[in-house]
Amino acid sequence: MEQRLPLEKSTVWNALQAHRRRLAKIDIRELFEQDPQRFERFSEEVGELFIDFSKNRIDAPALNDLIALAEHCHLPAWTQKLRDGHPINHTERRPVLHMALRAAPGETYSVDGRNVVPEVHAELDKMAAFVERLHSGELRGYSGRRICHVVNIGIGGSDLGPYLATQSLRPYWTGHVEPHFVSNLDGAQMALTLEHMDPETTLFIIASKSFTTLETLYEAQTAREWFIEQAGDPAHIGRHFVAISSNVDKAMEFGIEEDNVFRMWDWVGGRYSLWSSIGLSVALTVGMDNFRKLLKGAHDMDTHFFGTEFRHNLPVLMALMGIWYRNFWDCCSTAILPYDSLLHLLPNYLQQLDMESNGKQIKRNGARANYCTGPIVWGETGSNGQHAFFQFLHQSDTVVPVDFIASINTHYPLRDHQSLLFSNLIAQSEALMKGRDLDAVLDGLSPTDPDYEHQQLISRYRTFRGNTPSNTILIDTLTPENLGALLALYEHKVFVQGIIWNINSFDQWGVELGKELAARLQRDLLHGEHLEEHDPSTAGLLRHYFKVSRHNGKR
Ligand code: F6P
Repeated sequence: MEQRLPLEKSTVWNALQAHRRRLAKIDIRELFEQDPQRFERFSEEVGELFIDFSKNRIDAPALNDLIALAEHCHLPAWTQKLRDGHPINHTERRPVLHMALRAAPGETYSVDGRNVVPEVHAELDKMAAFVERLHSGELRGYSGRRICHVVNIGIGGSDLGPYLATQSLRPYWTGHVEPHFVSNLDGAQMALTLEHMDPETTLFIIASKSFTTLETLYEAQTAREWFIEQAGDPAHIGRHFVAISSNVDKAMEFGIEEDNVFRMWDWVGGRYSLWSSIGLSVALTVGMDNFRKLLKGAHDMDTHFFGTEFRHNLPVLMALMGIWYRNFWDCCSTAILPYDSLLHLLPNYLQQLDMESNGKQIKRNGARANYCTGPIVWGETGSNGQHAFFQFLHQSDTVVPVDFIASINTHYPLRDHQSLLFSNLIAQSEALMKGRDLDAVLDGLSPTDPDYEHQQLISRYRTFRGNTPSNTILIDTLTPENLGALLALYEHKVFVQGIIWNINSFDQWGVELGKELAARLQRDLLHGEHLEEHDPSTAGLLRHYFKVSRHNGKR
């Protein structure tokens, strides 16, 4: 691959800046007036996903140059490297092959010349057998009662993916088990979960790729202590604790039997691991068939991503829109707005996926990037968000590009809820784009209105900036397949952006310093020592904690 010019010095970057200056003078509404076919030209349908990109500050020439930017950054060659299992996670010397986890049995994904797809399917079969044994009642708790609660203990990717998938696929729950998720170090979450658990009927899944994550190990120990105290005999652990990890030895050191350790691999990043045995809680909740459908949907998106020209490639288009706003319009955040309560955890999930992947400044060559990289990702379901932060989206001076996501048909058809909800989504995307100027407000006033004077006075407050960009992603009814496709869409989007920004989207060094300091602070807190070695603010906070705490060693 030939050396590329620094992004910000390339001709195509300059061309895009010129497009931005040109388009800054044109409203999205005018773009629609100029091109009656705009909706058709800027929307794509792939499998069960329909995406409307037309409400963006973009036109064909600008999009062409964004595509040229992707070419300039050697996206095709990098995509091939990703597909071929090159160690593109160079700081950890690992390939990035979460796509192998959802590959069909006959496909090949290689690591060091070894096809890993057979191992993946062997692990899936192990999961399937476990799910079958538990659902059939063959696998029971120590007292002979059926397992009906599953507590997944994990954090980050070992929590957010399975948590999102189980909640999003609520209509597919088989009824065999109820899933629970404990992720936070905060004892309250564990205590409140255990409050409802019966040790005889509860299975704990310790989900940690590394099996070194402090939070997860500490919570797992708490669960184990609770379990032994209740069940009376540590020998019962075998029936009630399983682990998912790439570090089988560590899981066994913790006391999990080897057969009860489900494997994953170091070529799967934590935030890309839902598709691995990290999805065990999902499979137990919705059944293995539905879990396989989730994988199938993601696999279909992989096929689309690897095989489609950029102009019609959904992840590439989504990525380019993001680059466009982040680097050329100074938008530092983007909002994920699912109009579907089943997807209420999607913003959290995408936050980790995007921000832990692309929240970086050091480029692949070790130099600092002279341009912005990953945005702040945040969001909330509609219509809740409308009564919280939409005020900001409509009337602040900050432009936040948004992704609206909705299923058109619902699993819960209740009166006209669904059409009302959908009308609200469309109304918001329309309002964000169209806005309302002063003339339109004044036009709506009538001098015969007894309140006319006051209405005139407040007319400026009732104006809306408009011209706020949005993508709208529509699916038919939320299913395991289209959920898989949706998540894989965002995964590949994040990959494409990382390539254009020339950063490694697959490491996460930014979480390390806090971990190191926390370990030291915990020691200092427990012993009340070395307080003065910290900066004055930290020392002051420690002293205050020490003075007030009723939960720790020395006072
Ligand atoms: O936050 C850092 C991180 O490594 C994430 O990338 C990961 O999802 C999470 O911690 C949990 O890691 P593990 O599965 O190894 O416990």
